[in-house]
Amino acid sequence: MKILVTGAKGQVGTDVVLEAKSRGHEVFGFASSELDITDKSSVDSVLVSIKPDVVINAAAYTAVDKAETEQEKAYAVNEAGVKNLADACKEQDVPLLHISTDYVFDGEKKEPYVETDAPNPTSVYGASKLAGEVALQNTWCKHIILRVSWVFGEHGNNFVKTMLRLAEDRDEIAVVNDQFGAPTPAKAIAQCLLDIAEKDHFGEGDFPWGLYHYQSDPGVTWYEFAQEIFRQAIELGVMDKEVVVKPINSDQFPTPVSRPLNSKLGSLKSNERLNNALLEWKSIYLKDYLVSINAGC
Ligand SMILES: NC(=O)c1ccc[n+]([C@@H]2O[C@H](COP(=O)([O-])OP(=O)(O)OC[C@H]3O[C@@H](n4cnc5c(N)ncnc54)[C@H](OP(=O)(O)O)[C@@H]3O)[C@@H](O)[C@H]2O)c1
Repeated sequence: MKILVTGAKGQVGTDVVLEAKSRGHEVFGFASSELDITDKSSVDSVLVSIKPDVVINAAAYTAVDKAETEQEKAYAVNEAGVKNLADACKEQDVPLLHISTDYVFDGEKKEPYVETDAPNPTSVYGASKLAGEVALQNTWCKHIILRVSWVFGEHGNNFVKTMLRLAEDRDEIAVVNDQFGAPTPAKAIAQCLLDIAEKDHFGEGDFPWGLYHYQSDPGVTWYEFAQEIFRQAIELGVMDKEVVVKPINSDQFPTPVSRPLNSKLGSLKSNERLNNALLEWKSIYLKDYLVSINAGC
């Protein structure tokens, strides 16, 4: 299959490209410097010249706090950029697989968010991502929107790397314990997107186009996630000292944008449709990730 990947140098985009190549696909990965999705004519001409079988959009404006003061930029990428891709894909009759976020929700719900829950973003980033979903839904029917949360990958900045870096010169780290969600490996997201693209009946009765939540388990707070990172890091020899993790509340760690208290995604359809077991992030993905860091990969 010919697969075009945008945002190919990002955390998820890098793993999408690696996963697609490892499955033997012909992959055209574009970094932001090679294809700016806000540039409509570039998007159109790349689609025309490559004629991919599927486009995977991993490009996004992801600076959650900065988006509050860079509203225009966030919407340009997360809404207008997605619309450009949707227009070009429609023109060429190419399915578009797009990634979205738990930040479309306000975090007030007590249970995991499912696909039928009403979005209510509380940040510019979340609102711009929701606007991108709507632009895609209104433009091109052959799409999949996969909402994911709390991503950690080998190729970008994320919570795992931050914790390990902080532990280098601290003996105690305070971590928020009142925000609940589920860490989701970038590698697993890449595998999921490729599984969807490879489905024989992709877009048909047994795997319809539309919106899916990519559920990861178990749900934890950031504090519990940090504890698990350090527990495994010591067990695997990635770290050789104990770090005290101190639970704090969000108001003790103020950020320009308040994070949703509940970011946990559940799904009414993805497990059934994707035929995958519940994604368990701890025992395989976090462990592999820490082992790869230890090996200097
Ligand atoms: N990270 C998370 O925890 C998380 C959680 C939920 C959902 N998501 C979603 O997952 C997807 C992937 O996120 P990620 O973690 O991989 O983010 P990332 O590491 O920031 O990657 C995003 C990529 O998009 C590129 N990009 C930005 N503007 C662009 C433009 N105008 N044209 C083309 N490319 C552009 C960036 O390039 P530059 O670096 O060169 O600007 C970067 O390589 C996004 O849709 C995000 O909203 C992420």
